[in-house]
Amino acid sequence: MKKTLLLTLLAGALGTASARDLAAIKASGTLVVGTEPTYAPFTYTQGKKIVGFEAELAEALAGRMGLKVEWKPSAFDTLLIGLNQDRFDLVISSHGITPERQKAVDFASPHYCSGGVILARAGGPLTVAALKGKTVAVQLGTTYAQRAEKLPGLGSVKTYPTNADALQMLLSKRVDAFITDRFVAIEGRKKFPQAGLKLGEMLFQEKIGIAVKKGNTSLRNAINQALAGMMKDGSYQKLSEKYFGEDIRCK
Ligand code: ARG
Repeated sequence: MKKTLLLTLLAGALGTASARDLAAIKASGTLVVGTEPTYAPFTYTQGKKIVGFEAELAEALAGRMGLKVEWKPSAFDTLLIGLNQDRFDLVISSHGITPERQKAVDFASPHYCSGGVILARAGGPLTVAALKGKTVAVQLGTTYAQRAEKLPGLGSVKTYPTNADALQMLLSKRVDAFITDRFVAIEGRKKFPQAGLKLGEMLFQEKIGIAVKKGNTSLRNAINQALAGMMKDGSYQKLSEKYFGEDIRCK
Protein backbone atom coordinates (compact mmCIF):
# COMPACT_ATOMS: atom_id res chain seq x y z
CA MET A 1 0.00 0.00 0.00
CA LYS A 2 2.72 2.42 1.09
CA LYS A 3 4.90 1.48 -1.85
CA THR A 4 2.07 1.74 -4.36
CA LEU A 5 1.20 5.23 -3.15
CA LEU A 6 4.78 6.40 -3.49
CA LEU A 7 5.13 4.94 -6.97
CA THR A 8 1.92 6.60 -8.12
CA LEU A 9 3.17 9.93 -6.80
CA LEU A 10 6.53 9.56 -8.52
CA ALA A 11 4.95 8.45 -11.77
CA GLY A 12 2.84 11.59 -11.68
CA ALA A 13 5.96 13.68 -11.18
CA LEU A 14 7.89 12.16 -14.04
CA GLY A 15 5.15 11.90 -16.59
CA THR A 16 4.08 15.50 -17.01
CA ALA A 17 5.19 19.01 -17.92
CA SER A 18 6.84 21.15 -15.29
CA ALA A 19 4.81 23.06 -12.73
CA ARG A 20 4.10 26.77 -13.06
CA ASP A 21 6.94 28.67 -11.45
CA LEU A 22 6.39 31.89 -9.51
CA ALA A 23 6.78 34.08 -12.60
CA ALA A 24 4.15 32.12 -14.54
CA ILE A 25 1.76 32.21 -11.58
CA LYS A 26 2.27 35.94 -11.14
CA ALA A 27 1.62 36.52 -14.83
CA SER A 28 -1.76 34.80 -14.42
CA GLY A 29 -2.57 36.62 -11.15
CA THR A 30 -4.11 33.47 -9.64
CA LEU A 31 -2.74 30.81 -7.34
CA VAL A 32 -4.50 27.47 -7.85
CA VAL A 33 -4.83 25.73 -4.49
CA GLY A 34 -5.89 22.17 -3.71
CA THR A 35 -7.46 21.09 -0.42
CA GLU A 36 -9.85 18.53 1.06
CA PRO A 37 -12.39 20.78 2.76
CA THR A 38 -14.10 18.52 5.33
CA TYR A 39 -11.43 19.19 7.89
CA ALA A 40 -12.76 21.85 10.27
CA PRO A 41 -11.32 24.09 11.59
CA PHE A 42 -8.51 23.98 8.98
CA THR A 43 -10.39 23.89 5.66
CA TYR A 44 -14.13 23.36 5.41
CA THR A 45 -17.06 24.74 3.47
CA GLN A 46 -19.57 27.39 4.38
CA GLY A 47 -22.09 27.32 1.58
CA LYS A 48 -19.89 27.41 -1.50
CA LYS A 49 -17.01 29.15 0.23
CA ILE A 50 -13.92 27.38 1.56
CA VAL A 51 -13.14 28.73 5.01
CA GLY A 52 -10.98 27.89 8.01
CA PHE A 53 -7.53 28.54 9.42
CA GLU A 54 -5.66 27.17 6.42
CA ALA A 55 -8.08 28.81 3.97
CA GLU A 56 -7.47 32.23 5.50
CA LEU A 57 -3.75 31.53 5.77
CA ALA A 58 -3.50 30.57 2.08
CA GLU A 59 -5.42 33.70 1.07
CA ALA A 60 -3.20 35.91 3.22
CA LEU A 61 -0.03 34.30 1.81
CA ALA A 62 -1.34 34.71 -1.73
CA GLY A 63 -2.22 38.34 -0.97
CA ARG A 64 1.37 38.97 0.07
CA MET A 65 2.49 37.58 -3.29
CA GLY A 66 0.01 39.83 -5.09
CA LEU A 67 -2.19 36.87 -6.04
CA LYS A 68 -5.78 35.71 -5.72
CA VAL A 69 -6.63 32.13 -4.73
CA GLU A 70 -8.61 29.80 -6.91
CA TRP A 71 -9.73 26.86 -4.74
CA LYS A 72 -9.89 23.35 -6.16
CA PRO A 73 -11.47 21.03 -3.60
CA SER A 74 -10.41 17.39 -4.11
CA ALA A 75 -10.33 14.06 -2.28
CA PHE A 76 -7.47 13.98 0.24
CA ASP A 77 -5.80 10.88 -1.19
CA THR A 78 -5.59 12.50 -4.66
CA LEU A 79 -4.09 15.86 -3.62
CA LEU A 80 -0.35 15.11 -3.90
CA ILE A 81 -0.89 13.10 -7.07
CA GLY A 82 -2.84 16.04 -8.51
CA LEU A 83 -0.01 18.38 -7.53
CA ASN A 84 2.43 16.28 -9.52
CA GLN A 85 0.03 16.32 -12.46
CA ASP A 86 -0.07 20.15 -12.32
CA ARG A 87 -3.70 20.34 -11.28
CA PHE A 88 -2.72 22.80 -8.52
CA ASP A 89 0.15 25.18 -7.81
CA LEU A 90 0.14 24.20 -4.16
CA VAL A 91 -1.73 22.00 -1.73
CA ILE A 92 -2.71 23.19 1.73
CA SER A 93 -4.55 20.39 3.49
CA SER A 94 -2.78 19.76 6.78
CA HIS A 95 -0.23 17.35 5.33
CA GLY A 96 2.21 16.05 7.89
CA ILE A 97 5.75 16.42 6.56
CA THR A 98 6.87 12.78 6.33
CA PRO A 99 10.00 11.33 4.68
CA GLU A 100 7.75 9.31 2.36
CA ARG A 101 5.88 12.40 1.11
CA GLN A 102 9.14 14.35 0.85
CA LYS A 103 10.27 11.88 -1.80
CA ALA A 104 7.32 12.89 -3.97
CA VAL A 105 6.77 16.61 -3.30
CA ASP A 106 8.51 19.61 -1.70
CA PHE A 107 7.20 21.17 1.49
CA ALA A 108 7.31 24.80 2.63
CA SER A 109 8.37 25.54 6.22
CA PRO A 110 5.77 24.10 8.63
CA HIS A 111 2.77 26.37 9.21
CA TYR A 112 1.65 24.57 12.38
CA CYS A 113 2.45 21.67 14.68
CA SER A 114 -0.08 19.19 15.99
CA GLY A 115 -0.57 15.46 16.31
CA GLY A 116 -2.87 12.48 16.10
CA VAL A 117 -5.21 11.70 19.01
CA ILE A 118 -7.81 9.12 19.88
CA LEU A 119 -11.35 10.56 19.92
CA ALA A 120 -14.18 8.51 21.43
CA ARG A 121 -17.74 8.87 22.76
CA ALA A 122 -18.33 9.07 26.52
CA GLY A 123 -17.16 5.77 28.05
CA GLY A 124 -15.26 4.78 24.89
CA PRO A 125 -11.59 3.76 24.54
CA LEU A 126 -9.11 6.59 25.14
CA THR A 127 -5.77 4.77 25.25
CA VAL A 128 -3.91 2.44 22.90
CA ALA A 129 -4.38 -0.31 25.50
CA ALA A 130 -8.14 0.30 25.56
CA LEU A 131 -8.32 0.08 21.75
CA LYS A 132 -7.58 -3.65 21.88
CA GLY A 133 -10.24 -5.46 19.86
CA LYS A 134 -12.03 -2.19 19.01
CA THR A 135 -13.06 -0.72 15.69
CA VAL A 136 -11.33 2.51 14.73
CA ALA A 137 -12.20 5.00 11.98
CA VAL A 138 -9.55 6.94 10.02
CA GLN A 139 -9.47 9.04 6.86
CA LEU A 140 -7.99 7.46 3.74
CA GLY A 141 -4.41 8.45 2.90
CA THR A 142 -3.69 10.19 6.21
CA THR A 143 -0.87 9.72 8.68
CA TYR A 144 -3.59 8.62 11.15
CA ALA A 145 -4.52 5.75 8.84
CA GLN A 146 -0.86 4.71 8.64
CA ARG A 147 -0.48 4.85 12.40
CA ALA A 148 -3.72 2.96 13.07
CA GLU A 149 -2.56 0.11 10.80
CA LYS A 150 0.51 -0.26 13.01
CA LEU A 151 -1.24 -0.27 16.39
CA PRO A 152 -1.15 -3.72 17.91
CA GLY A 153 -4.32 -5.62 18.77
CA LEU A 154 -6.95 -3.43 17.10
CA GLY A 155 -10.17 -5.19 16.16
CA SER A 156 -10.32 -3.40 12.81
CA VAL A 157 -9.42 -0.17 11.08
CA LYS A 158 -12.15 1.32 8.90
CA THR A 159 -11.03 3.81 6.30
CA TYR A 160 -13.33 6.58 5.05
CA PRO A 161 -12.78 8.93 2.10
CA THR A 162 -13.38 12.15 4.06
CA ASN A 163 -12.67 13.33 7.57
CA ALA A 164 -16.36 14.26 7.93
CA ASP A 165 -17.44 10.68 7.08
CA ALA A 166 -15.08 9.20 9.66
CA LEU A 167 -16.38 11.54 12.37
CA GLN A 168 -19.95 10.68 11.38
CA MET A 169 -19.20 6.98 11.92
CA LEU A 170 -18.09 7.73 15.47
CA LEU A 171 -21.19 9.84 16.16
CA SER A 172 -23.51 7.17 14.78
CA LYS A 173 -21.75 4.48 16.87
CA ARG A 174 -20.58 2.44 13.89
CA VAL A 175 -17.02 2.62 15.23
CA ASP A 176 -15.60 2.80 18.78
CA ALA A 177 -13.02 5.50 18.16
CA PHE A 178 -11.67 7.89 15.54
CA ILE A 179 -8.02 8.80 15.15
CA THR A 180 -7.58 12.33 13.85
CA ASP A 181 -5.83 15.62 14.46
CA ARG A 182 -5.98 17.07 17.97
CA PHE A 183 -7.55 20.38 16.86
CA VAL A 184 -10.00 18.61 14.55
CA ALA A 185 -11.00 16.45 17.52
CA ILE A 186 -11.48 19.51 19.75
CA GLU A 187 -13.65 21.08 17.02
CA GLY A 188 -15.75 17.89 16.73
CA ARG A 189 -16.25 17.79 20.48
CA LYS A 190 -17.47 21.41 20.42
CA LYS A 191 -19.71 20.93 17.40
CA PHE A 192 -21.50 17.82 18.69
CA PRO A 193 -21.82 18.38 22.47
CA GLN A 194 -24.64 15.84 22.80
CA ALA A 195 -22.21 13.03 21.86
CA GLY A 196 -20.00 13.79 24.87
CA LEU A 197 -16.85 13.19 22.82
CA LYS A 198 -13.57 12.84 24.70
CA LEU A 199 -9.99 13.27 23.55
CA GLY A 200 -7.66 10.46 24.55
CA GLU A 201 -4.02 9.62 24.14
CA MET A 202 -1.90 11.62 21.70
CA LEU A 203 -0.29 9.01 19.44
CA PHE A 204 2.33 11.08 17.63
CA GLN A 205 3.21 14.65 16.76
CA GLU A 206 3.68 16.09 13.31
CA LYS A 207 4.79 19.21 11.53
CA ILE A 208 2.27 20.38 8.96
CA GLY A 209 3.31 22.01 5.69
CA ILE A 210 2.13 23.35 2.34
CA ALA A 211 3.19 21.10 -0.56
CA VAL A 212 4.44 22.26 -3.96
CA LYS A 213 5.56 20.17 -6.91
CA LYS A 214 9.07 18.80 -6.49
CA GLY A 215 11.59 21.33 -7.75
CA ASN A 216 9.23 24.33 -7.71
CA THR A 217 11.74 26.29 -5.66
CA SER A 218 10.64 29.78 -6.73
CA LEU A 219 7.12 29.13 -5.43
CA ARG A 220 8.32 27.42 -2.27
CA ASN A 221 10.67 30.32 -1.47
CA ALA A 222 7.88 32.86 -2.01
CA ILE A 223 5.59 30.90 0.34
CA ASN A 224 8.32 30.68 2.97
CA GLN A 225 9.02 34.38 2.73
CA ALA A 226 5.34 35.33 3.04
CA LEU A 227 4.85 32.90 5.93
CA ALA A 228 7.91 34.20 7.78
CA GLY A 229 6.53 37.73 7.33
CA MET A 230 3.19 36.72 8.84
CA MET A 231 4.91 34.99 11.74
CA LYS A 232 7.01 38.05 12.40
CA ASP A 233 4.46 40.84 12.17
CA GLY A 234 1.78 39.29 14.41
CA SER A 235 -0.73 38.40 11.67
CA TYR A 236 -0.09 34.66 12.03
CA GLN A 237 -0.62 34.89 15.77
CA LYS A 238 -3.84 36.84 15.33
CA LEU A 239 -5.23 34.32 12.85
CA SER A 240 -4.20 31.37 15.00
CA GLU A 241 -5.81 32.87 18.10
CA LYS A 242 -9.02 33.48 16.17
CA TYR A 243 -9.36 29.75 15.50
CA PHE A 244 -7.59 28.08 18.43
CA GLY A 245 -7.29 30.64 21.19
CA GLU A 246 -3.52 30.04 21.01
CA ASP A 247 -0.58 30.28 18.66
CA ILE A 248 -0.11 26.85 17.05
CA ARG A 249 3.14 27.49 15.15
CA CYS A 250 5.90 24.90 15.72
CA LYS A 251 8.05 25.91 18.64
N1 ARG B 1 -2.36 15.44 9.18
C1 ARG B 1 -2.86 14.28 8.52
C2 ARG B 1 -1.92 13.84 7.43
O1 ARG B 1 -0.91 14.41 7.25
C3 ARG B 1 -4.26 14.41 8.00
C4 ARG B 1 -4.57 15.55 7.10
C5 ARG B 1 -5.99 15.46 6.58
N2 ARG B 1 -6.35 16.65 5.90
C6 ARG B 1 -7.57 16.91 5.38
N3 ARG B 1 -7.80 18.04 4.83
N4 ARG B 1 -8.49 16.01 5.43
O2 ARG B 1 -2.16 12.91 6.73
